This record gives sequence, structure tokens and C-alpha cells, in this order.
Amino acid sequence: MAKEQASIITIFGGSGDLARRKLYPALYQLFRRGVLRDHFAVIGTARRPWSDEYYRDIIRESLQDEPNTDDETVSAFAGHFYYQSHDVTDADHYITLKNLSQKLDDQYGAQGNRLFYMAMAPRFFGTIASHIRSENLLSKKGYNRLVIEKPFGRDFKTAQDLNESISAAFNEDQVYRIDHYLGKEMVQGLLALRFTNPLLTPIWNKDYISDIQITLAEKVGVEERAGYYETAGALRDMVQNHIMQLIAYVAMEQPASFTPEEVHASKNKLFSHLPVLTEEEAQKNWIRGQYLASSTQKGYRQEDNVDPKSDTETYVAGRVDLDDPRWVGVPFFIRTGKRLAKKATEIAINFKPLAHNIFDAVGSKDARVNRLTVYVEPEQGYTLTLNGKTIGADYDLRQNPLSFRYSQDVINAAPEAYERLIRDALRGDQTNFTRWPEQEATWQYIDVVRKAWDDGADLAMYNSGSHGPAAADKLLERDGYSWAETFTNEN
Ligand code: BG6
Repeated sequence: MAKEQASIITIFGGSGDLARRKLYPALYQLFRRGVLRDHFAVIGTARRPWSDEYYRDIIRESLQDEPNTDDETVSAFAGHFYYQSHDVTDADHYITLKNLSQKLDDQYGAQGNRLFYMAMAPRFFGTIASHIRSENLLSKKGYNRLVIEKPFGRDFKTAQDLNESISAAFNEDQVYRIDHYLGKEMVQGLLALRFTNPLLTPIWNKDYISDIQITLAEKVGVEERAGYYETAGALRDMVQNHIMQLIAYVAMEQPASFTPEEVHASKNKLFSHLPVLTEEEAQKNWIRGQYLASSTQKGYRQEDNVDPKSDTETYVAGRVDLDDPRWVGVPFFIRTGKRLAKKATEIAINFKPLAHNIFDAVGSKDARVNRLTVYVEPEQGYTLTLNGKTIGADYDLRQNPLSFRYSQDVINAAPEAYERLIRDALRGDQTNFTRWPEQEATWQYIDVVRKAWDDGADLAMYNSGSHGPAAADKLLERDGYSWAETFTNEN
């Protein structure tokens, strides 16, 4: 049985979509596994005047599609939830929250531990953090931790302002910035793959690797989130955070040991090699796109709450060059988009071609480059392609893949990203969260791309259900590369 954690968890945004879709199911699974059991309570806050009973019904409702539920466990779990109607700008409301936290701490024996979870519109994050401090919500006895959802700012300046208001109340080692990609099995597994295989470690550099490709393709469109998405676009929504974090895990040096400090030290070092682009470089190496209607689906500009003339990008492809000695000359190609042919999160490592193929002499020219593909989702596993011989008397070459996939049963039984991340926050493990220097470096990089586009750049339209705009293929072809066929292959 997992080690039980004691805490009073306050969720700002307790009536919201994120809380219902992600947080309550994740907390439930932690309860079921015994990480949360007797010594915890959750206070949900939002403006609406709900009773505890009504709130508990919402909790039950949010678990309807969860696996492994039964009435008894769900009721026991929901009994730990309390609701407090709250106006984030009203100082008195924080005093009420403080008193409620203390009362529940006495009732449940939460040992003075406080986890504050910001699951609401980011414009309130700073206000909440400063009230937590000024109205003395911080506990003197146990820990105080702040979990904060993305987006962390909308550019470098707003991220910096936000960080300053948070750091007035919390130290960096108390702040847990969520990037849910860091809670995914295969993203965590990437570090094990890289740093436990002597076969891979020595060749993980510019001498052996030709290029690296990261694909975050989604089948869904903007769904009900147009209000937010119109102000964000794919660059802010997916690239500044998820894709940059994946680049860090693929490219960073081996940490001295697997501790939060060392992992973040490696990441920081890597991000110090993420150069600040010139606008010309950004124009040249980054393209944006937007999805059009198909016979069954709306185009982006026809979606509810989207400006019919919107230039917001739903697709991005780009080339990232790190000025790290390990990676000089190795392009990192990235692409992400909505309404593409299928959901596919994949990382392809393309190794350099053979210097000399001795089988040329007998007419077998078909030695391909080796490729390691890490399948993050929906499939989870990896494939390494090797060249071999076609069976028969002649020396014909062919590619023979070595493949590993986790089975669907194993995947279904494994904890989901939010469950892992909340558990980490409860245990005080910051490894899988982002720290301020990472935000700083990635926003500074992204801001230039944004500026180059705002100053005028083509918006490449693509059909819903396609593989994205042709401009993304041209971006690679220009430099003599091409996208790995994994995503374009329908199987
Ligand atoms: C979120 C973005 O961070 O990630 C969404 O805001 C996107 O727009 C989602 O759909 C993708 O996450 P996942 O886990 O489904 O790949």
C-alpha cells in the first residue's frame, strides 16, 4: 500500500472544468490507492453559493466514467470534500478559508500541511497568491505548497510579473508549475531509456544523430475552449510548454543523479543553450497554419466564439537549433496541430547515414538510416529500426524493426498524468514540474517567433483530417530532411 499523505488541499476553481475532468478523478484514484486516506480534506472554492452536499454530488458526478469506482468508496471519498464560496479579491473570504482549513486540519489530523491548487483563470493567480500571504493562510507547522496550472503567462513579461507576485508568497521550492506532459508515462520513461542503456548513451549526440523530430498531433479541434484559444494559439498552447519540455528531456545532459535538483540543473543548462532568435531566423524557421472545414467538421474560423477573420494558428512547425556543443548542427524539428489525421505524440531520433555500404557492390543499396521512435501516446513504447538481410540467397537489404509496446491493459491500469503529478506534489517531489528559469528561457525564445508572425507571416491553411500544411514539409525539404513517416502512416 502506498504511503499515506496528510494534507488540506484547497482548490481555487473548484467548480471548473479542469477540476471536474482531471483533478477529482485523480484525487479519487489516489484515495483508492491509499495515498490519500484518512488524514486529508479538500476545500473547493468558487464564486457560486454551493452547499457541501451539492459539491459532493458534483464530485460523484465527475467520477461517473472513472474505472474502479463503487458506491461505498466514492461516498467515503466525497465525504472529505467541503465547499467555500469565495471571491478571490475579498480579503475577508481568505480569513474564512483560513479558519476552515484549521478546523479541518484538527478534524482530520492533516499535520499543518497545506496544498493550494490554482485551477482557474490565470489572471487571478497573482491576486490569490498575495492574499494567501497577507491573510496568513500559510501554515507554520507543516508544509505550504502551491500547484499552479498553465498557462504560466502569455509572454515573457506577463510570466515574469506572475512569477514575481507568486514569489512574494512562496519560495521557488514551494511552487509546483504543472506541465501535464511531464506526468506522462513515456515522457518519464524517456529518461530511463536514455540514461540506463549503455547502447544509447554514447551515441546520443551530433556525431551519430542527424536530426530529431517531435510530433504532437491532435485529432480534436478547438472544442469549447475558443475563448482561451483565440488569445493563445498553438505556439503558446503547446510549444512554449509541452514541446520545449520534451526537447529538454531528449537533449539535456545526464543529471548527476535522479533528484529534482540535478534534473532541473541539467534542464537549466540545456535551456541556457536555447538561443534568443532574431526575427529573421524566426521567419525563416517557423511556420503557422489553421484548419479549414471538411465535409463533416467546421473550419477554425467557423467555430463558436472564433473571429471569422481570426489569424490564430492551430498548427505550428519549426526548427530549433541549440548552441550546445553536443547538438551543434542537429536540427530539432517540431510540429503540433489540431484537427489532424490522428492523435499521435511521437519523438523520432534519426541517426546519421552509413558512411560506406559494402553491399553496394552486389547491388543492395537499400541501407536506410536507423531510427528510434518513442511513442508517447496513444501507443506507448518504442521502435528501433535496424537494417538486415532479406531472407534468400541474394544480399538484399531490408529494414527490420525492433518494437516494444506496453499492452492496453497495462496502460489502463497505470496512473494518469494528473494523478502522478498530484502525488508528487503531496510528497514534495518537484522533478516533474517546471521551474522559473525554464519558463524564462522558453518564453524569451517563443516571444520572437510570435513577434515575427505578428509583424506579418503567411498562415498556411490545411484541411481538417489531413497531415497539416505542405509548408511544414517544405520547411524540412529546404534543409535536406523529411518528416519521419510514422505519423503519416495511417496504421
Ligand atoms: C493542453 C492544451 O495543454 O494539452 C490543449 O491546452 C491540448 O489544447 C492538450 O489539447 C493536449 O494534451 P494531451 O494530453 O491530450 O496530449
